Amino acid sequence: MTDQTNIRERIVKLKKDLNAIILAHNYQRPEVQDIADITGDSLELSRAAARTDFKVIVFCGVHFMAESASILSPDKTVLLPEITAGCPMADMVTVEGPRKTRRELFTDKLGIHFEFSDTFTLRDMKAMHPGAPVVAYVNTSAAVKAESDICCTSSNVVKVVESLKEDTIICIPDRNLSAYAAKRTKKKIISWDGFCNVHHAHLDMEDVKRAKKEHPNALLVIHPECPPEIQDMADHITSTSGMLRYCKESSHKEFIIGTEEGLLYRLRRENPDKQFFILSKEMVCPNMKRTKLDSVLIAMEKRQYVIKVPEDIRIKAKRALDRMLEIV
Ligand code: 13P
Ligand code: SF4
Repeated sequence: MTDQTNIRERIVKLKKDLNAIILAHNYQRPEVQDIADITGDSLELSRAAARTDFKVIVFCGVHFMAESASILSPDKTVLLPEITAGCPMADMVTVEGPRKTRRELFTDKLGIHFEFSDTFTLRDMKAMHPGAPVVAYVNTSAAVKAESDICCTSSNVVKVVESLKEDTIICIPDRNLSAYAAKRTKKKIISWDGFCNVHHAHLDMEDVKRAKKEHPNALLVIHPECPPEIQDMADHITSTSGMLRYCKESSHKEFIIGTEEGLLYRLRRENPDKQFFILSKEMVCPNMKRTKLDSVLIAMEKRQYVIKVPEDIRIKAKRALDRMLEIV
């Protein structure tokens, strides 16, 4: 019996002993996706966490995802197998903190009004735009969600923005998701200037040109965290599970995928007759890759690391998450 088989068998037994469910994000390692009960995007996993009857939720993803599970299911024990698995983009916005001196504002080609994240806090931003509701991408901390009006994910941001009665909306923290929404609504979007290293910093137009040259018959399918100029080149822009649905339903046979490389495992497994190419080999999220099969086993054996949100923050953050879950 191989080590991996042994680990898998112990995890399966522990699932029964603990009355646990394993949730895994689409970016997780193949062996982690294989042991999971549910694999999905942020929205699907939030829904799964909200309705589960299991006592323990083992969340294979990053910190904000486990936090959301704990916010939605406070009576469950939520375990994050790797405590250092965070999301650098989520860390780009804080509710309050030391005030820095530099403050820069600019408006880009699309007319989106950007505010620099290293200059002020979310409370400062709200004070500058009284009456503008805050739409927080789920890639934010519980404290930031608690300070926001409603959450969104990459699959529902436009619906969420459109659901609000106000004409000026603050969107945090991802500049590119804001740009994506701004192009699809008449409302004025004021955006935090955050970004994802995987989809923004490690990607440029040269990657698109090269991939299209190498695979001229492939459709370009990307995540809305990619920069606007790449969004303009794409055949389809959607969340990770949206990509799975789109590629499955498409009659096309080849796809260039602009998101974290972990998604290609499911894309290939669920579409053996199709070909998938990553837009850039740099598209690897080190935080998502921290969780290995033995981290899952150790987490279940030691019941670590328990993610629990203080009750005052949880109640407010839940309001923002529930409001999103009600409309989509
Ligand atoms: P999804 O909501 O599409 O799963 O994306 C989450 C994420 O972290 C993207 O980088
Ligand atoms: Fe965060 Fe980007 Fe990793 Fe998603 S891919 S978890 S946004 S760092």
